[in-house]
Formats: sequence, C-alpha cells, structure tokens
Amino acid sequence: MLLSAAIVTTLLCFCSLLPASGQDCPSRQEIQGSLKQVQKLLSAHEASYLQSLHNLKKKINLLHSNAGKQTTRTTNSTCPKLDAPVNGRKLGKSQSIGHEVHFLCDPGYELVGSESRVCQESLTWSGQQTTCRDINECSSSPCLNGGTCVDEVNQFSCVCAKGWAGATCQSPVPTSTAAASTLPAATTGPFVRPSRCSIVQGTTHCTCEPGYTISGRDSVTCTDIDECELFHNGQAGRLCLHACVNTPGGYRCSCPVGYNVTRDGRSCKDIDECATRQNNCTKDQMCINTYGGFQCVRVECPKIPNATYVKTSPMRCERNPCPVDNKACSQTPNSFSYHYLAVVSNLSAPRVMFRVSALRPIGDTLRFSLLGGKQARRHFTVQRSDRVTGQLMLVTPVQGPASLEAEVEMSELEKRVQLGRYITKVTMFVSQYEF
Ligand SMILES: *[C@@H]1O[C@H](CO)[C@@H](O)[C@H](O)[C@H]1NC(C)=O
Ligand SMILES: *[C@@H]1O[C@H](CO)[C@@H](O)[C@H](O)[C@H]1NC(C)=O
Ligand SMILES: *[C@@H]1O[C@H](CO)[C@@H](O)[C@H](O)[C@H]1NC(C)=O
Ligand SMILES: *[C@@H]1O[C@H](CO)[C@@H](O)[C@H](O)[C@H]1NC(C)=O
Ligand SMILES: *[C@@H]1O[C@H](CO)[C@@H](O)[C@H](O)[C@H]1NC(C)=O
Repeated sequence: MLLSAAIVTTLLCFCSLLPASGQDCPSRQEIQGSLKQVQKLLSAHEASYLQSLHNLKKKINLLHSNAGKQTTRTTNSTCPKLDAPVNGRKLGKSQSIGHEVHFLCDPGYELVGSESRVCQESLTWSGQQTTCRDINECSSSPCLNGGTCVDEVNQFSCVCAKGWAGATCQSPVPTSTAAASTLPAATTGPFVRPSRCSIVQGTTHCTCEPGYTISGRDSVTCTDIDECELFHNGQAGRLCLHACVNTPGGYRCSCPVGYNVTRDGRSCKDIDECATRQNNCTKDQMCINTYGGFQCVRVECPKIPNATYVKTSPMRCERNPCPVDNKACSQTPNSFSYHYLAVVSNLSAPRVMFRVSALRPIGDTLRFSLLGGKQARRHFTVQRSDRVTGQLMLVTPVQGPASLEAEVEMSELEKRVQLGRYITKVTMFVSQYEF
C-alpha cells in the first residue's frame, strides 16, 4: 500500500511538468534547475520506496515465521492429562492452552496444592499437584471430660470416660443416686443407657446398643426396647409360647410352674416331676406325670357285694373265684383295669383316647359300652374298631385344668348269655394350658 502510493505521487509530478514545457518554452537554466529538482525528488522517492520495500520484507518474514509457529502449535497444543485426586474430583476436561481445571475434595478431606490450574503456553499446568488429605477431625480435641477421640473418615466419635455421655461426652450419665433427683424414675435403671454419638458433616448421629433405642426427647440416652410389647401380636407368631419378660436390652420367655423353657428359649416343656423326685407321692401311691404337674394315685380294688377282688398288678384288680352257683358274684366284673392319661387342655376332637382288646375272647359275641354318668357321656363315646377291639373316643375338647373319668366295659357273651365282664377305668388329667 505504502509502495503504490509513492509511485502514483511520482507519476503525477511528471504530468504536471510536461504540459507546462509544451505551452511556454522556459530558459535552458530554468529547465536544468527543474530537472535537478525532479532528480532530487525521484531519488528521495527511490529511497523511500526501498525503505518501504525493506520494511515490507521484514513484515512478510515476521508473518512467515509466525505462521510457521502456529502450525507447530496445532499439532501439540494441549497440556498433559491431569487426573482427579484420590478422594476428590476434577472439574473441567479441556487440556488446551488457556483453559482451567478445578479440583474439589470429598467431604472429610481437605485440599492440598492448587485449587485450580491453567494450561500454559509452555504446555504445562500452572500451580502444584492437587491431593485430598483426610481431615483429622480429632485435631480440635472435640471430646470433653476425658473422652477419647476416634478419627473416622469425615467424622469422629468420642469414647467417653465413665460417667459421661453424648456426642462430645458433654453430658453426665445419671447414676443411681444422682438420677433420682435429676430424672424421673422411669428413665433410670438398667433400662436406660448412654448413647454412642458421632458427628457426620456437622450433624450428630447417636446409636444405641442392641435392644435399646433413642428415647426421643434427647439423643443422649437410650431406652430399652420392650420386645414383649413390640411383638405382642406379631404376624410371624408370638415371641414366647407362654409369657414374655422384658429384660434390659432384650427379653426372655418364661413358663408356668411345672414347665421349663425349651432350649430354643421360646417354648415350654413339661417337667417330669415323677422322674426327678420333685413329687411328694408316698410309697403306696403312684406318681402320674401330667402337663404342668403330677398326680399321686393309689389303686384300690373295688368293694362290691358278693365278690372280692385282689390286686394282681399295680393297675389291675381281679375277682376272686366265685362260689359255685353264686349268681350275684358271677354277675360282677371279672376285672378292673386302671389307666391314667395326661392330656393338654382343649385337645382337638374327635380322637381316640384308649383301646380295649380281648386277648383270648371266649363266646360268640364281644360287646363294648361306655359306663359312667353324664359327664362321661358329654365328652366320650365308645366305638368298635375291629372284631376284638373297642375304642374310647373323645368327642368334644375339654378345657383344663380338669380330670375326667370314663369306664369302658367289655362283655363276652355266648348265645346272649354273659360269660364275663371286664372294666377299664380311664382317668384323664387335663392340663391348664394347651401345651
Ligand atoms: C506433545 O506434548 C507432550 C507433553 O507436553 C509431549 O510428551 C509430546 O511428545 C508432544 N508431542 C509432539 C508431537 O510434540
Ligand atoms: C429347667 O431348665 C434349667 C435350664 O435348662 C435346668 O437347670 C433345670 O434343672 C431345669 N429344671 C427342671 C425341673 O428340669
Ligand atoms: C404334696 O404337696 C402338696 C404341696 O406341695 C400338697 O398340697 C399335697 O397334698 C401333697 N401331697 C401328698 C400326697 O402329700
Ligand atoms: C350277696 O351278698 C349279700 C350281703 O353281702 C347277701 O345278703 C346276699 O345273700 C348275697 N347273694 C347271694 C346270691 O349270695
Ligand atoms: C381351642 O382350640 C381352638 C382351635 O384348636 C381354638 O380356636 C380355641 O380358641 C381354643 N380354645 C381355648 C379356650 O383356648
């Protein structure tokens, strides 16, 4: 641009001179003077032109070298990749020159090094390497009253000295003597324990030992969970078969007198007092173990007119032989057998309770029947189960505690004439509980 302007100016100078020379002929001296002036002008222009040219060359060279630099830069214009620090994050992905990345540390960690770094012209990052360091929450000695601080990631917890509780062991634990005056009676005793607290991101979190829960009003104390109350009507079945006893931090099942808690801790099993000498039955008595207790029984043979009975075994009486032609005697039962059954209350019915069989039946007919009063008939019936066997059936459930008696008679007949009668007396001890 500069060059072309200089040329145009020079040409215009020639044009203005020539017409002047054609109109009026100046003197030789005047012409020589003018030529000298033009010559001077031209050489000045030439110098100026050369100078411009030189400047232009320089500029072109500069541009050239700059352009060259630019092409090398595009081939490698990024800084090396920066990774996010362990336990932290990196914001910004670009690694190009002039771009910035920022670093953040996870909660509980503090940033060490540069928070942000720039990709420099030198293709290196500004600043220092960034790391995230676990903050020692204990460094401020947050646990009071001799508590020991335990540093955890992003939190700390205090292990309090005896007599102190709370997140920072700031609260005295009620003791049995101090408690009476400072706390209502219901919140003292083994059913109240101090909580274990920790501070997470500025928020206090308190936990309790198993079986305890934060009592609601303050997080310092844990109160015992009443499992018995909580699972009273549990869908998955009751906690205990009989009774549930709440204990500090737990519960246990208890059983009524005469029962022992089973190994699983839930159920009750009957104690066999007869086997464990826990009975006071005398020598001439028999001990009958029942559910929840025992019975002392004494088998005495019946006293029936015209017949005498003798005990042939602890549970059996047999009639002495009758005098010949003593019909009254021969009509009496040949034997009495005694049986004692222990059953639980509300036993489902109908069910077979007892079977009577004739070992060596004589005659052509065996007959089974139920003796006894109304009570027996309300609960029992007798059925034949095969040719020589009759069975005593319970027809309605019985609520205990109770004892029921039923007599089953078996008769042997020959052409409708009675040959023998045999009585089986069944005594049923029904327990109070259904277990
Ligand atoms: C690009 O830069 C990286 C790191 O600055 C270097 O390791 C690599 O050799 C360079 N590549 C070229 C083609 O110059
Ligand atoms: C009941 O169980 C406890 C513990 O299992 C045992 O020590 C005790 O002897 C038992 N009592 C009876 C009467 O069996
Ligand atoms: C056994 O002891 C109980 C009380 O423990 C008493 O009621 C009962 O009469 C006694 N039985 C006998 C046979 O002594
Ligand atoms: C049965 O015994 C009663 C009294 O013990 C007696 O009076 C009666 O005569 C006896 N009957 C027979 C058939 O022996
Ligand atoms: C007896 O048992 C039946 C089911 O077997 C039950 O529905 C009923 O409630 C029980 N009765 C009592 C008094 O426990």
